[in-house]
Amino acid sequence: MPRTVITFGTFDVFHVGHLRVIERAAALGDRLVVGVSADALNLRKKGREPVFSQAERLAIVAALKPVDEVFVEESLELKRDYIQKFAADVLVMGDDWAGRFDEFSDVCEVVYLPRTPAISTTALIEKISGGS
Ligand code: CTP
Repeated sequence: MPRTVITFGTFDVFHVGHLRVIERAAALGDRLVVGVSADALNLRKKGREPVFSQAERLAIVAALKPVDEVFVEESLELKRDYIQKFAADVLVMGDDWAGRFDEFSDVCEVVYLPRTPAISTTALIEKISGGS
């Protein structure tokens, strides 16, 4: 049976930290499914509209070689449904979420990967808008 890995994120202003987490997630199995968070979800979660729309973010993530399937994550409350719908064997999250998804270890393996240091969408936006 192929091993399916699932991960979630906004992936706005796509950067190398996003690429690295996707590559490392893919290496944990045979098939990688990525949930890209909806614009409305982002507004609720981060208090701002993403720079790129969900359709654009979805298209960028879908075009990556390690990614087999993408979908729009409509709600944070639906993680268990998504894990089951895509028959995921492994849930991968960045370690900024460490411990927060352990409740799903009854249906899949839960892995937290260390974030790539010194880069984030928020920092990039600040750097670009600050002009430094
Ligand atoms: N990620 C990572 N290393 C980074 C930044 C993000 O491994 N330097 C991972 C996150 O842990 C998550 C995925 O990439 O698993 C998507 O994260 P996202 O929140 O979309 O990116 P951030 O750059 O963290 O965005 P923000 O600054 O808006 O929080």
